[in-house]
Amino acid sequence: MTDSDIDRLLVAGASGGTGREVLRLLGPRPVTVRALTRSPERRRSLRAAGADEVVVGDLFDPDDARRAAEGVDAVVSAVGSGPRALLSPGEFVDGRGNRTLLDAAVDEGAESFVMESALGVGTDSASWLGSVFDAAIGPIQWAKADAEAAIRGASVRHTVLRPGVLTDGPRTDEVRVARPGAHLWGAVARADVARLLAAAPWTPEAADETFEVVGPCGGGRGEPIAADWRLPGH
Ligand SMILES: NC(=O)c1ccc[n+]([C@@H]2O[C@H](COP(=O)([O-])OP(=O)(O)OC[C@H]3O[C@@H](n4cnc5c(N)ncnc54)[C@H](OP(=O)(O)O)[C@@H]3O)[C@@H](O)[C@H]2O)c1
Repeated sequence: MTDSDIDRLLVAGASGGTGREVLRLLGPRPVTVRALTRSPERRRSLRAAGADEVVVGDLFDPDDARRAAEGVDAVVSAVGSGPRALLSPGEFVDGRGNRTLLDAAVDEGAESFVMESALGVGTDSASWLGSVFDAAIGPIQWAKADAEAAIRGASVRHTVLRPGVLTDGPRTDEVRVARPGAHLWGAVARADVARLLAAAPWTPEAADETFEVVGPCGGGRGEPIAADWRLPGH
């Protein structure tokens, strides 16, 4: 896929820690960046962070998802539920929200869908960190697994990234990336994850792949993936 194939990219979860880093990276680059938020009062700060367009909507509403995905060529989804969501009954944006967005993106003919998931999701992850995540926030992890499966089965190029514990530390560009089963463990800066999420639609090695991601202090068994993570206008 060349730069010119993707003119407009939607960042869902744009107001979140990772999403804002994606906006900062893509904002100055030759792609129109649309941000999604449920809060109209965040319009100004999202534009300041790099969004060219802001759509206000909730991913539990298919009409909102359709408006968000209208005319986009690629989607980066960094949405997520806080732990407080575990206290109330109902579905999670990590699952149903991502699936609703995926359906809308496919209907719109988007070429690429990128999802920020988490270490511990899926049957391959059996590191101690994955087990701790699963025990603490199981329902959210299962919701993410459900969305991952839908993404893999959809007729769209996809990349799923499963980061370790997210930090607000500086970007290192020294992440360790491996296929599921590598049993990676450790923390990783949101800024490093955002760099991969933002580059995934333009990175050939990321097409139709799921990767575990940790920072330079993390560990694991698997063979690291060598990829030239390309941003548009590179
Ligand atoms: N925390 C960790 O250590 C960790 C580790 C691995 C993976 N992860 C995952 O990584 C992802 C990003 O985490 P983060 O901490 O950077 O994000 P975050 O700051 O928690 O932001 C989450 C975003 O999701 C959006 N959102 C929530 N519900 C929504 C809905 N119904 N419709 C539309 N948007 C919705 C929020 O947008 P608005 O409020 O503006 O609508 C917010 O921008 C999440 O999926 C998280 O589970 C986290």
